[in-house]
Amino acid sequence: MGKVIAIDGPSGAGKSTVSRLIAEKLGFQFLDTGALYRAVALHLRRKGLDADNTDEEIRDALKGVSVFFKDGRVFLKDNSRLKTQNSELFSGEDVSEEIRTTEAGHYASVFSAKKAVRDFLLQIQRDAAIENDIVAEGRDMTTVVFPNAWKKFYLDASEEGRAKRRYQQLKDKGIDIAMEAALKDVRERDIRDSSRDIAPLKRADDAIYIDTTDLSLDEVLERVLQSLK
Ligand code: DC
Repeated sequence: MGKVIAIDGPSGAGKSTVSRLIAEKLGFQFLDTGALYRAVALHLRRKGLDADNTDEEIRDALKGVSVFFKDGRVFLKDNSRLKTQNSELFSGEDVSEEIRTTEAGHYASVFSAKKAVRDFLLQIQRDAAIENDIVAEGRDMTTVVFPNAWKKFYLDASEEGRAKRRYQQLKDKGIDIAMEAALKDVRERDIRDSSRDIAPLKRADDAIYIDTTDLSLDEVLERVLQSLK
């Protein structure tokens, strides 16, 4: 088992950027677990499922499906369809762009409350640390997936600050969104991600808390690196 730096926090607190840079700096692998939830949600939506479907139906729809990272990209592979002659189905489909829309984020949040989805992704996430040192970021890294992580952090920021960040990230990707819509998205996700029954977002007692609202990226990195010493 490798060393795990676990980072949790609400949507838009800057976890991904910070985690990626810390991983690069330390030579650790970066595990973006939100991307896994987004890819699973994309698959379930394509199968026509939504929040009303039961865990059993979701489990069925995930049979033979794998989600994985390769060269920093996210892939979705549906092994149940391998009999067809489409080469994309053999090597997996690169869904890295498609999972970044607000709709994909919304459904990732909706489906992530389902036990069938959390069960499906639990081992995949833990396996990532078997042979590698990793920086894992998400909502339940410090509490459920890696409760014995080497170091734990909780990154937070004001609602407004996080909405601004979300807005800018989507704009940079060429996705059109109004500031009010970004704020609404952040609010809705906060409520859903922290009020669900299974593995809700919460601050672990032993996680180092960093409020990033008034900090530059360099300042946040500095604080994390200091705490790792
Ligand atoms: O971090 P993100 O915005 O890419 O995550 C998308 C959604 O996935 C988030 O709103 C809740 C869910 N998620 C989760 O429940 N647990 C995780 N460890 C990571 C993400």
